[in-house]
Amino acid sequence: MAARVDERKRAVGFAAVDRYVRDRTCIGLGTGSTAYWAIERVGERVAAGERIVAVATSRETERLCRERSIPLVELMDEEIAVALDGADEVAADLALIKGGGGALFREKAVALAARLFVVIVTEEKLVQRVGNYPLPVEVVPFSATYVTREIEAIAPVSVSRRGGATPFVTDNANWILDCRFGPIDDPAHLDELLRAIHGVVTSGLFVDLADEVLVAGPNGVRSL
Ligand code: 5RP
Repeated sequence: MAARVDERKRAVGFAAVDRYVRDRTCIGLGTGSTAYWAIERVGERVAAGERIVAVATSRETERLCRERSIPLVELMDEEIAVALDGADEVAADLALIKGGGGALFREKAVALAARLFVVIVTEEKLVQRVGNYPLPVEVVPFSATYVTREIEAIAPVSVSRRGGATPFVTDNANWILDCRFGPIDDPAHLDELLRAIHGVVTSGLFVDLADEVLVAGPNGVRSL
């Protein structure tokens, strides 16, 4: 089973690069086990002589790019023609939950800056409404307890600090709160409420950001 899922991730990562990435462009590269395959394919094309540069959404992606000699630039050094990234859940209206790997802040920064944001997933990630996957919320550590109280005041929700007593620390030196809302009726509104809490850096709700979703299933890769 695991090997089959990995093969689909490879197929969708490769397909996204081959469909959307052009020579002599700057691209955004996501984080996670599906984005890994897009990085791999970009590495092959760079090795073949194409001049593609990338903004990485995490230190781990930076490391993978360096290993493959993909030149890195900073956010806004160059226009990002397309950003490619995975997701934890994709709803019918293309609302996403992201941040399972804890890279949500940079992932959202890159998605916002890119001309085109292409999401790459296996079909298990498709849902009617986002929210069954625990929603990651990045918080400034000093305010984590206050933010937890404020989130619990929004809705009946279980909030847990990722890593528990040994908190998971993001690339921005913050913590992640995983929030189990269940199916979310209005993700845009919830994202606004969360981001208005002092101490919240961002939420893993990506609403009106995805331009294209490529889905890998048993019969190959299709657009949603
Ligand atoms: C990392 C992310 C990932 O894109 C998301 O968790 C999906 O990862 P994977 O492709 O490994 O399932 O948002 O912060």
